[in-house]
Amino acid sequence: MRQEEVTSWVQDAQAAFLAATDLDSLKAARLAHAGDKSAVALASRTLGSLTPEEKASAGKIIGEAKAQIAQALAEATAKLEAQRDMKVLLEEVVDITLPVNRKHRGGLHPISIIKNEVSDFFIEQGFSVEEGPELESGWLNFDALNIPADHPARTMQDTFFIEPVESGMVLRTHTSPVQIRSMLTQEPPIYVICPGRTFRADELDATHSPVFHQVEGLVIDKGITMAHLKGVLDNFARHMFGSDVETRLRPSFFPFTEPSAEVDIYFNNRWIEWGGCGMVNPKVLATCGIDTEIYSGFAFGMGLERTLMVRHGITDMHDIVEGDLRFTRQFGVGL
Ligand code: FA5
Ligand code: MG
Repeated sequence: MRQEEVTSWVQDAQAAFLAATDLDSLKAARLAHAGDKSAVALASRTLGSLTPEEKASAGKIIGEAKAQIAQALAEATAKLEAQRDMKVLLEEVVDITLPVNRKHRGGLHPISIIKNEVSDFFIEQGFSVEEGPELESGWLNFDALNIPADHPARTMQDTFFIEPVESGMVLRTHTSPVQIRSMLTQEPPIYVICPGRTFRADELDATHSPVFHQVEGLVIDKGITMAHLKGVLDNFARHMFGSDVETRLRPSFFPFTEPSAEVDIYFNNRWIEWGGCGMVNPKVLATCGIDTEIYSGFAFGMGLERTLMVRHGITDMHDIVEGDLRFTRQFGVGL
């Protein structure tokens, strides 16, 4: 084994490592010049068959060659790794001055906005918010509210009955069953509002929808009179429609209130029906186990679509239910 031959292997290896332009080509050069089948490795393996003297000098030559090749490889590796890191830094740099890709984050529907607004208004006054189920028992939706079996509201025209009909379940036609649920589970004094979705077999037209929203209010306490009801409704109306709004109670009939009234508001130069109200019928209080000698109360129920339409001059219910963003965006929340 001649020194010149070994030196040429080292030089070949050094040249190949220097010529490598990236870590992949360096790997190929390493396998060729320092791998198991490289000239130094093969020569190294023949050392065992040499005489002790030959082995000493050849071993030294090979050992030095291996060290030089290893050093050349280490230097090339360090250089190419540094190059790769720099390239990553340059290529993956983030230009924080570029405009952001603004995606729509979504927003609340105007009905949700107004529902939250109503809830906040009453929560501030110490009311709690109750939400009953949309699939309700006929007993809570009708009977407990003193709506008799032959009442027209119970016919197929108005109510979505759930099959099997013997289940007695309905899609609630108003939020009033939540009044009953509240009175059955709470001791007076009771101050609750119950916003939620309600269902009636009404055609979708300019002012009606088969799926709509109501907010129910219920107060049960000692000495509650219709004057309290009027005061709460006046404040509520001013909060929703502005301080100039006028309210009036127009005599009406609901089986669960006595006396009963329609609440009208004077807005934009005309009287508009806003919802129903009245003093909770003592029959209903008794059904719920409330002592009518001690307690009395009032209740009201307003349509939220109606509230929104009046306040914002919306003339067609379709705009509220169809989900067209051009309508929703005008309410400008989070879009
Ligand atoms: C009721 O539902 C009573 N539960 C309200 C009540 C509560 C009275 C507590 C007394 C005490 P009424 O059926 O009138 O009443 O409905 C109330 C409001 O719901 C209406 O004024 C209207 O604003 C709204 N509403 C009724 N049906 C629809 C419909 N199909 N689409 C949109 N809004 C409706
Ligand atoms: Mg009505």
